[in-house]
Amino acid sequence: MPDTVHVLNGPNLNLLGTREPEVYGHATLADVEAACRAACERHGLDLVFRQSNHEGELVTFLQEARGSRGVVLNAAAYTHTSVALADAIKAVGLIVVEVHLSNVFAREAFRHHSFISPVARGVICGLGIDGYRLAIDALATAGGKIS
Ligand code: DQA
Repeated sequence: MPDTVHVLNGPNLNLLGTREPEVYGHATLADVEAACRAACERHGLDLVFRQSNHEGELVTFLQEARGSRGVVLNAAAYTHTSVALADAIKAVGLIVVEVHLSNVFAREAFRHHSFISPVARGVICGLGIDGYRLAIDALATAGGKIS
């Protein structure tokens, strides 16, 4: 379990590749998974990669990540609304790196607030699919801290 990284993706990320490509790029969720798998393999870590459009299911995924090395979480729109996801992270004591493909701070004001950031070890946004790899590198090499 401590050698497993969970990468959890929120609503509408199943549509990557066709969803607003000018914002989110052309990579599909399968491409994101392949990049995460390659990063985990480099570090000798197992990968659990999941996506859900449902808030409660994401809460369950977080609970199921208990005891893992950490979680890379792109909670998508739930980032900006979900007390339940923040509570789950605190409840389970997970190391979470929050990731966003787009630079949320260069977008609408409602995307500037995150319920996840206060309970995350770090936040990466605006670097596209590379953000996931960087988050896995951080979890693998420094317990979630960029050294
Ligand atoms: C996102 C940014 C969120 O604001 C948005 O709701 C998403 C995707 C990103 O990866 O850039 O669905 O998390």
